[in-house]
Amino acid sequence: MATAHFNEENSADIVTGQNANAKDERLRQVMDVITRHLHAAVKEIEPTQEEWMQAIQFLTATGHKCDDWRQEYILLSDVLGVSMLVDAINSRRPAGASENTVLGPFHIGGTPEYEMGTNICLDGKGEDMVVRGRVLDIEGNPLEGVKIDVWQANDEGFYDVQQKGIQPDFNLRGVFRTGTDGSYWFRAVRPKFYSVPTDGPVGKLLDDLGRHGNRPAHLHYIVSKDGFDEVTTHLFDPEDPYIDSDAVFGVKKSLIADFNRVDDPARIAEVGFEGDHYWDVEFDFVLAPKG
Ligand code: BEZ
Ligand code: FE
Repeated sequence: MATAHFNEENSADIVTGQNANAKDERLRQVMDVITRHLHAAVKEIEPTQEEWMQAIQFLTATGHKCDDWRQEYILLSDVLGVSMLVDAINSRRPAGASENTVLGPFHIGGTPEYEMGTNICLDGKGEDMVVRGRVLDIEGNPLEGVKIDVWQANDEGFYDVQQKGIQPDFNLRGVFRTGTDGSYWFRAVRPKFYSVPTDGPVGKLLDDLGRHGNRPAHLHYIVSKDGFDEVTTHLFDPEDPYIDSDAVFGVKKSLIADFNRVDDPARIAEVGFEGDHYWDVEFDFVLAPKG
């Protein structure tokens, strides 16, 4: 039989055919799928040589923007919704269990563990907030000793690690453990929306597409206990202007909390605040058994 040579119709088959002796079967499978979809996209788009070069230059600039602190490719994956899609595929859970969302780049190790009720706002800036709730299993039983690792941006939309020397280290971060009734509570400040970094090629792409780079105000959580599926998630503020247009698609209905304003002086005193109001946020987590 005559050897088939590359043409417009058979292009993907010819390329994937050369991967038949791949050393790793999973790599072969992944590259076959990517090659088929990439060729289909190119056939549908029919780029000019100039457009293809523009695409190559975009990817080159994305790589050049990466260093030890900046990962422009992860940002690209985020704004294309791929990070959320990979997360969804890897965190399928039974109905009723808390849902995952993106981890994001601002989680750090070494966060101090605090007594319940501690105020994790170390610089007193922002509107007071109490966050409280319970951690339960899928049958509704309270879970004791669950580790709750929280971090959030401040009232101007910056994490402590973005403002070294301006915010105290570990500002608005804390680790808590649930008590026998599965409950947790801590004090903080109401977070604000912020923008993902838009000073690189991905920011320019967003701008060219008429998109913004903002993420609606949120608190990050990692909720973990041996024997249960770890939940990496956020709580979102429903009143945020970007709640329906998160630049990285992290919002899920089940993760939108209520932020209730409390003006009652007795309740304000009870939780140890001194201002004229605070925001009360109640949110329960449900952990699914591992696997
Ligand atoms: C974050 O919420 O911290 C985040 C997530 C994805 C991209 C950038 C920031
Ligand atoms: Fe965040």
